[in-house]
Amino acid sequence: MADLAFDPPAPCPVCKGFGFLETPDGRRVVPCACKAGEHSSARMRGARIPDRYRGCSLANFNTLHPSQAAAKALARRFIESWPVVGAGLLIVGPVGRGKTHLATAILAEIVDARQARGIFCDTTELLDRIQATFSRSEETADDVLTPFKEAEIMVLDELGARRPTEWGRDTLYALLNARYNQRRITLVTTNFMDEGDRAGAETLESRIGVPLRSRLAEMCQYVPLDGPDFRREVKQGRAFA
Ligand SMILES: Nc1ncnc2c1ncn2[C@@H]1O[C@H](COP(=O)(O)OP(=O)(O)OP(=O)(O)O)[C@@H](O)[C@H]1O
Ligand SMILES: [Mg+2]
Ligand SMILES: [Zn+2]
Repeated sequence: MADLAFDPPAPCPVCKGFGFLETPDGRRVVPCACKAGEHSSARMRGARIPDRYRGCSLANFNTLHPSQAAAKALARRFIESWPVVGAGLLIVGPVGRGKTHLATAILAEIVDARQARGIFCDTTELLDRIQATFSRSEETADDVLTPFKEAEIMVLDELGARRPTEWGRDTLYALLNARYNQRRITLVTTNFMDEGDRAGAETLESRIGVPLRSRLAEMCQYVPLDGPDFRREVKQGRAFA
C-alpha cells in the first residue's frame, strides 16, 4: 500500500515538474512560474517568522491610535521604496501595541514580494544561542551570527527585553555594526523609549548602552507606537469560539 506521507506532491501541470518551459518560438527555456513560488516559500521559511506572527500583514494592522496610522503609512512607503531605503526602523512602544506585528508584516512583504533575503531575530533567543555555543562545540558563535549579519533585512525583536550584560551589549553592538557597515537594513522593536514614560522609568539608552543607542540613531528612523494594549483590551483570549 502506498505510504501517503511519502507520496511526492503532484508535479506542476504547466511544466510537468521540469521547472522550465520553452518559449513559444522554441529557442529559449525560461523558468516556470511554479519555481518562483518555490523560491518564495523557501525564502519565507528562511525568514523564520514565529508562528504567531505568520498571518500578520499591513492589511490586518488596525489603526486605533494616530501613532498606529502614522506607522502604517510609513511602513507602506518603506515597502514601496524597497530596496532604496536609507535606514531601518526603530519601533518603540509599551507592550501589546503591535510593534512585532508591524515589523513582521514588513519583513514578510519584502521577503515574499520583493525577493529579499530576510530574517527574524528574537534578541533574547539569539544571546542564549550564542552563549550555548560556549559550552557545546558543534556550533560556533560565528555560525550562529552569520545569517543575521548577512540578511538584507532583519527584524531584531525585543531589544533590551532582558537587561543585557556587558557581553550581551558588545555582541549586539558587533552584530548591528556589521550590518551598518554593509548598509543592511534592520527593523528593531523595543519597549524602552528615549524618554522614560514614567518618572524614573528606564530609557532605551540606559538599557542598551550609549554606543548601541548611538549606532541605532544612524541606522533607524524612530517610530513610536501607542494606543490600547491590543492583547488585553482588544483581543481577549478565547479558548472556544
Ligand atoms: N494595530 C494592530 N492591529 C491588529 N492587530 C494588532 C495590532 N496591534 C497588535 N495586534 C495584535 O495583538 C497581538 C500583540 O501585538 P504585538 O505582539 O505586535 O505587540 P508588541 O507591541 O510587539 O508587544 P510586546 O512589547 O509585548 O512585544 C498580536 O497578536 C498582534 O497581531
Ligand atoms: Mg513584540
Ligand atoms: Zn511549473
